[in-house]
Formats: sequence, structure tokens, C-alpha cells
Amino acid sequence: MTDSSQNDFIVVSNRLPVDRVVEPDGTAHWRRSPGGLVTALEPVMRASEGAWVGWAGKPDLELEPFTEDGIDLVPVPLSALEVQRYYEGFSNDTLWPLYHDVIAAPSYHREWWEAYQVVNQRFTDAAAEVAAPGATVWVQDYQLQLVPAMLRAQRPDLVIGFFNHIPFPPYGIYAQLPWRRQIVEGLLGADLIGFQRVADAGNFTRAVRRLYGPTTTKGTSIRVPSPDGGPERIAIAKAFPISIDVASFEELARRPETIERARQIREELGNPTTIMLGVDRLDYTKGIRHRLKAYGELLRDGDIEVGDAVLVQVASPSRERVAAYMQLRDEIELTVGRLNGTYSTISHSAIAYLHHGYPREEMAALYLAADIMLVTALRDGMNLVAKEYVACRHDDDGVLLLSEFAGAADELKNALLINPHDIDGLKESMVKALRMPKKERASRMRSLRRRVRDNDVSSWSDSFLTTLRQSADAARSM
Ligand code: F6P
Repeated sequence: MTDSSQNDFIVVSNRLPVDRVVEPDGTAHWRRSPGGLVTALEPVMRASEGAWVGWAGKPDLELEPFTEDGIDLVPVPLSALEVQRYYEGFSNDTLWPLYHDVIAAPSYHREWWEAYQVVNQRFTDAAAEVAAPGATVWVQDYQLQLVPAMLRAQRPDLVIGFFNHIPFPPYGIYAQLPWRRQIVEGLLGADLIGFQRVADAGNFTRAVRRLYGPTTTKGTSIRVPSPDGGPERIAIAKAFPISIDVASFEELARRPETIERARQIREELGNPTTIMLGVDRLDYTKGIRHRLKAYGELLRDGDIEVGDAVLVQVASPSRERVAAYMQLRDEIELTVGRLNGTYSTISHSAIAYLHHGYPREEMAALYLAADIMLVTALRDGMNLVAKEYVACRHDDDGVLLLSEFAGAADELKNALLINPHDIDGLKESMVKALRMPKKERASRMRSLRRRVRDNDVSSWSDSFLTTLRQSADAARSM
């Protein structure tokens, strides 16, 4: 680890890119953390000499800063009660459902809000401590929305960026939040506030206008009043659609061992004509139930024959102590059990259901093996799985079914765009994908691949960080 007070670039996110895992025999090791945020930021951090401030994924862990796989990590401890109130509670049972169109009902608890403030202050202190004078600090996601203003109050010399990886809801929904003003105030501490979609940035600036008055915003610029009556600042709110390290996924998918593994997967599934694939954290926003419903009806109606087609559903474990997630798991597993019980044969399953996370190598092989990729999210900030699938298909084959409610749909227009609530429409698109001629598959995939290559994760971070430095320079010269 380099001199900890000398970092010119710092990423702050709820999780570090690695989680501490303790095995039953007491041995401990590090495992890559779940989710798209880490997928996107890991290559950015590798390319820069920065430090990453975050939580190591287990309660009550007091760890010194350390280096793992070439990245300098600064762990922030959380007590078991804070994990419950700040992480499982306010972040994932208040903000998460609220920001995802209230698909599940958000809970509002004052003690969760208290914990959220305390923990945001702790992340702020950790970042302030390792930031060199004038450093750039890039704060990530909804768990840390108060950090920008807290950090500015403590270290006005810093250039502060914030990126929201999940949607920002329309004001009619956002307004439910009892602490709606404090959260907006927290975000406005940043010089640049980035969102996945133009619609999210618009929702945010509309919230600012509703809370601070109609003349506070103009285009992407926001006039931010000083907390101590000093001069106003300008903050920018703008869309920067996130992406993946396209070249590294493609390289992985081109390796002979990945191609061989894809062949093996197909063989192990009984060499069906069509493999459909879903890859999601087990989350109610992902529309897994809708996908299963459509698939079940296609089986029932004889549009799909078991043996001829199979659905592989990877559902990686997520937030398993939050009630809505426990209930979802029960529902999904009941449905999978019923469909398999009804339609599987001795030799062939209707659904291969896998409640695990897999390494990138296995994912690349699965993507290569899958004829149809099903992304049926009810609401999703971006959905990087859609981009990973496209990046891996160097053979210009495979069909992507993509929900219009995922941020990725703004860019990947040549996917088969679907509304997951419209089960008949979803079924029609699945059948269309099953029957799509090779020529059409290839031409759609080529165009999707061009789009994904044009905006990979380094263009995303370059464009965010360039805009951030420009906005900070402009704000300081006012
Ligand atoms: O992008 C949404 C997000 O919450 C990330 O912040 C996070 O890394 C990922 O999903 C996984 O969620 P969690 O950290 O709660 O397991």
C-alpha cells in the first residue's frame, strides 16, 4: 500500500471490490463482490493509481488498509447493527425499492435514517483522511448519497464526483421519502452528479426544482446555495451510461478453453436446439417471475418442448436477510420446482436453476452457449449482463431479449425490446427469438456489438472524469 495520505484519486463505494469470506474451518480469504458496480469500476481502478474506500462485506471487521490484486483498499468497518440498519434497512429496504418504482413497498424507519447518516459520515472521514490536497474523490451509488456534502464541508479543496448506479425516480415517487430534502442536499455537495439515463438526470433536476424553486436549474446546471450564506456554486447533473471492459470479456470468450467449456455446457444440458439464459442477482427488480411465467406458458401451450429447449437461470444470492428477498426466493424456487415437476423428463429438465455466483470464465462460457439471453428487468439502472452477453458473442450469433425498463435499452436498440409486464408480448418475442433466421441474428448482433464497443467502461469513466474536472474548474473560477 502506498503512503495513505497521498492519494490523488479515490473511489468511495459501499462495498470494496472484494468481500471477506470465512470458511467453516475458520480460514479466511477474499472473494470478488457481487454486482455491476464492481464489474465496471475494477478496470478503472486498475488503470489508475488510486485508493478504493469501502466496506469488506462482514460486520465488525477492523482491518488496516491493504493491497489486493494490485488495488489499494481502505476498509470502513460496520457493526452488526449498522449492517442491519444502514445496509439492509435504509439502503436496501428504503432507497432500493423507492428508486425502483416501488416494485416492493419501501419501509421508512427513523432509526435506519440515523444509521445511514452515521455511516455516511464514517465513509466521509475515511475518504478525507486518505485524500491528498486537491484530490479527486468519486463517490458511488445510493448507499452514500450524503457523502458529497459531508466531504465538501470537511475538505472544500477536493474535486467531488458522484455516480448513481441505479435509477433516480420521478418526483411523485421520490417525494414519499421523509428525508427527501437532506438526500438532495447531500448529492448537491458534488461538482458533478452522474446518472445512468437522461431520464434519471431529468428526474433529479426536477426534484431539485420542486424542493428549491423553479429557477435553480438550467439544462444540466444547478445553482447550489452555500450552507453558510456564502456565494452559490454550480453543480452539474448529467447522464453517463455505464459499461463494461468490452475487450477483456471478448478476449475471455475467444479463449479456446472458454469455447470448449461452452460446448461442454451444451452437451451436459443434453444438446438442446435452444438454450435460453437468465443471469441475475436474485432481486425482485429483475423480473424473474415474469420470465418464468412466460416460459411456463410456452411449455404448457407446446410452443417449447423440453429436450428441444432449456432455460438456464443463474440467480446469484443477494441481500438474503431482507424480508422481500427471502420471499422472492421462496416464490421463484416454488415456481421453478412446479415447472420442473410438471414438464421435466427423466433425461431433460425444463429449467436448470443455479443459486450461485460464478467466476467470469464460467459466465463467458455460458454466454457463448446461450442462443437467447433473457433480460426482463422491471426496472434496472443499466443491466451490465446485457452488455456482457453482447461483448462475448464474437461469433455474431445469439439473440438478446431486453426489457425497455433497463437503462441498457437506451443504447441497445437492436435487441428484441420487450415490456416484461406484457406476458403475451414477452412470449411472442421469445418465440420470435427461437425462430429468428441466422442472417437476422447476425445483423442484429453486429449492430449491438458496435454500440457496446463504442462506449466501453474506459470511455464511461474518461467522459465522467473529464466532465468532472471541467465542472470543478469552472465552479472554482466563478
Ligand atoms: O448497482 C447496484 C448495487 O447495489 C451496487 O451498489 C452493488 O455493488 C450491487 O448492486 C450488489 O448489491 P449488494 O452490494 O447489496 O450486494
